[in-house]
Formats: sequence, C-alpha cells, structure tokens
Amino acid sequence: MLLTDGARVAADPALRPAARWWRRVTEEAYGIDLVPVTDGPADVVLALAADLPAGGYRIEVREAPSGTGATPGTATVRVEAADLAGAHAAAQTLRQLAGPSAFRRAPADYRTAGTLPALPAVRVEDHPRFEWRGVLLDVARHFLPKHDVLRFVDLAAAHRLNVLQLHLTDDQGWRVQIDRYPELTRTGAWRRESTVGTWRTGSRDGRPHGGFYTQDDLREIVAYTRDRGITVIPEIDVPGHVEAAVAAYPELGTRKDRSGVRTTWGISQDVLDPSEGSLAFFRHVLDEVLDVFDSPWIGLGGDEVPPTLWRESPQIVERARALGLFDAGGTVDVGLLHGWFVARLAEHVSAAGRRAVVWDEAVSPMLPRDVVVTSWRGYAQGAAALAAGHDVVMAPEQVVYLDHRAGDHPAEPIPVGFLRTIEDVYSFDPFPPGLVEPPSSLVELVETQVSTSSTSGGAAAADHRQGRLLGAQAQVWTEHLDSARRVDYATYPRLAAFAEVAWSPQAAREPGSERSKEFLERLERHHLPRLDAYGVEYRPLAGPHPWQTRPGVQGYPRDLAAETAVGGWAGLGGWREDGGAENLPEWTPASDT
Ligand code: ACM
Repeated sequence: MLLTDGARVAADPALRPAARWWRRVTEEAYGIDLVPVTDGPADVVLALAADLPAGGYRIEVREAPSGTGATPGTATVRVEAADLAGAHAAAQTLRQLAGPSAFRRAPADYRTAGTLPALPAVRVEDHPRFEWRGVLLDVARHFLPKHDVLRFVDLAAAHRLNVLQLHLTDDQGWRVQIDRYPELTRTGAWRRESTVGTWRTGSRDGRPHGGFYTQDDLREIVAYTRDRGITVIPEIDVPGHVEAAVAAYPELGTRKDRSGVRTTWGISQDVLDPSEGSLAFFRHVLDEVLDVFDSPWIGLGGDEVPPTLWRESPQIVERARALGLFDAGGTVDVGLLHGWFVARLAEHVSAAGRRAVVWDEAVSPMLPRDVVVTSWRGYAQGAAALAAGHDVVMAPEQVVYLDHRAGDHPAEPIPVGFLRTIEDVYSFDPFPPGLVEPPSSLVELVETQVSTSSTSGGAAAADHRQGRLLGAQAQVWTEHLDSARRVDYATYPRLAAFAEVAWSPQAAREPGSERSKEFLERLERHHLPRLDAYGVEYRPLAGPHPWQTRPGVQGYPRDLAAETAVGGWAGLGGWREDGGAENLPEWTPASDT
C-alpha cells in the first residue's frame, strides 16, 4: 500500500517531533510532500495511548477504506505511542517498513515518475526492554567533524538507541570549548602527532591532529539528537585521562610541568593533582557543560587512575591524611583520593539537579548513591554497584567494546582487544544468570558503602535498596579509528546486534543457535541493504574489503578465555597494581601456532 504525495499527517502535539522527523526523511527519500494537519481527516495519525509501557508503540497499516475518497491501494497508518520516546521508535519502524529506499536522501528513480513509499499491511506492537540503550562515541582520541557526529546520531537513532555518551576529553585531546579556560582548546585540542597501532609497538605518523566543538556546535548536536529521540551525555573524564587539560593548565597536574598533549595510547600516570584548585577548575568546567547539555546525566569518567605519582608527592599524601583517607589497617591511602575527587564533583552535578555517571573504578563508599555506574571492566563491578544501591549500565569490555576486533580474518585492520564477532555481540546478556557472586573484595566495598550511607545522612540500614539495572551501552573507542570510515567499519553491523539485544526481551542467542542464525539471515536480507542505501561502510560479514585493511599496522589482540580464567566476572582490564592482563602471556592467533 502506498503513501501518496500530499498525504495528511496528524500528530498529538506531544508527538510532533517524531512525526516531523518521519515526514522529513520520507519527503527527502521519495521526493514528495507530506502535509501536517491539525484537524480534519488524516492518512497518518500519531496518537498517545495510555495502555502501553514506557517507550512502547503500536502501528497499524491498512488499506484506506473505500468511500472515503481515498485512491484505492493507498495506506492509512495509525501509530499509538506511550510517549514521545515511543513515537520516535515507531517513526523509525515506519521508515524501516518502507524498505531500503526510505534510507536514501533522494529518490534513486528520479528520472521516472518516482516510487511512492510502500508499506505492508501490518500490526506491530513493541516496547523496549531497557530505558538506557546507549552507545559511546570517543571523539577525544580522534576528533570527528560535527557532520560525522550528526551522521553517527542518525544511525544510532535508526537502531532505536536512545543514549549517546560523547567522550569529549582524554589524554590525547580536549574537544569542548570552555569560555572560562580558553587554553583547554587552544592548547589541549591539538597534538603533535599520533601513534599508529598499539602503543607497545606502534609507529608515529608525524602529523598533527586535533579539533574541537564550539558550544554552539554542541548545542546543535544536542538539539539534533533530541529530535531523534536520543539524549547526549557529555563526558568530562577525571581525575585520570587528563593530559590534554594538564598540557593547557599545568598547575592541574601532579607534576606541574607542561608535557604536552599525549601522542600515544594506553593508561597515563599523569593524573590530576586532587587539590582544591583542581576541584574548583572542574566545577567551573562542569558549570559550562551543564549549561550546554540538557541531559539528566553528566559523565565524570573516573576510569583508570594510577595513584603512582600521588604516592610520590608528600603534599598529596598529607592531603589524603588530612581528609581522613585511611585503608582498613589505618594507614593513609592516597588511592582513595580517586573516589573522593569524583564524589565531590558528583555532588556538584547533583546540586545542579542532574545525576553523574561514572565508570566502575570510581565506586567507593564516598560516592553519592544517586550516581549511575557504568560497568566496563566486567560484570561483577556492575553487580556490586547494584547491591550498593547505584543504578547501573552494563557495558562490559568482554562483549560490547566495538573497537575490539570483529573477526579473526588475517587481514582484520589493527586487531585489538577481544575477538567479538557479530554473533558474540548478539549473544550479549547484560546480567547473565551465572552472575551471582561478586568477588569478595567487591562485597566488602558494598558492605562498607551500606554501612557508611546508613550512618551518614540518617538513612537506616533498612532503607538500603538495590539499584536498578538501567540498561546497556556499546562503546566505540577511537584510538585506532581515525576517520568516519573506520568508525563505520568497527560499529556496523555489530551495533545492530547490540541494539536488538538492548531493545528486546532476553533470550538464548548463543552463536550458532536458531535465533542467532535467524538474526544473521534477517541482517543480510533486510538490514544490510538499508545500511547500503544509507551509505554505511560496515564490515562485510566475510571480512574486510581490501581497502578496509591496514597492512603493517600492529594491533594488540587479547585472549578472552585466558583473561576470564583469571579474572572471572570482574575481568582483568583497567589499571591494576598487579599489571592485570599485561602479565598474561602474549596472545597469538590460532592460525600462527
Ligand atoms: C574505559 O574503557 N577505560 C572506560
């Protein structure tokens, strides 16, 4: 059934942004006009429905009844949505139902009369499993021009994801204009050169790299993203991953010297001096970030913070002592400054009426309970944070780090991390049934947290509540993705597998299972043609195109089975006193042994 030129579209005022988006993409793709109407008969109706779960929708496409004056064979569409989020999801489904041609920016058959959008007669009713279906885009390691960020948003929305975490700052670049501290972008947004491949053996490209978003750019990204049903979470990473900020303002650093924006990858020892001055600086930064972004959540990072330089600084040791940061044996513990520092900034975010989001290393008894924890090193950290009363997003590097290698094809470009095929990602369970016992060190942490929070603020132990599993997030880190083309390759089609898991009820989806096979078939027959029509340079299922390979660039593959055997549900990732995964024998591909 067809939608014709001039079809009338009526939307409840609360759902208009979704209706407008769908009208615009359909008008572009088919070269027709769809007419918004506020009264009288309509061919497409979007209405609110009270009986649907949050984010849910219902679509019915029928042939226009005869006797209404409609041309035979034309469609009438009724969309009911629980809320605007549901209407956005429904709009994406409507585009999907029209087929790959709906993913073009202009009609491919413009020389002939053109094709009208054709919709099958269907009834669809659906709602999301999780309220947080996220994807992280790292624009710090490699700056992605705004145009490419907007394109990334379009594609994430097409997969009904609803959270985009923008990783805006790191050792290798500061990407957000802060009026009060202009050196952050004047100095911190640029690096002399980049490492090509793993930092362990990588070579230098000898070519400067950089860029940043003005506050107007970011406001535009926020508005654009909101119009597609996605919330952008800005992430300002502290107190580690700060070499770019320290290059701009050396007084922020532990060493106080101007070492420059980092040009290699890997975990940096150069973390913030956790001083009152650093706190004041980042409160000011956050005030501007809070003004630009309307997200209810603000990312504070908190991952990978080696306390090595803190230990060597008598002033910082004294500061930890003065703050009462002692280990269980009563010895001053500078490492606790990490959690202390993040907790202070989280309070600043809370005071502004938002909630901080932190990586799992930042969990400590000092962390306010309203802070959302993103569990990346493994699952156990997320389980422990839930038990401590935090809301949690599961993002374990064991499955949903899309910069990790998608195949063991010999020509896989810059193969880093764990081998995670599209089927592996499709089998992702954010809270697997075997995840019952967090390691004892985490249990201790939880118990301390519960007793701390029950003695402060008057909360009784009986008040203690388990946090909520908000959802899941896939990560696109860009150390080895230096262009939008490389981002496409790493992200797709695996993000499609992740998106389906984050949306639909948990099910057995193991590689090789009937469900997994059905998914792959559906992907090949229906979804890859949509990505082709849109112009996505995804990784072909059979392996990279020759021009997608990076011969001679050294990766650093990791062995998931070996790391899991040692680290269990907690993994071995991140900074560890014992070196963690770095102490395992180097992984070699099976084909080489
Ligand atoms: C992380 O991968 N360091 C969050």
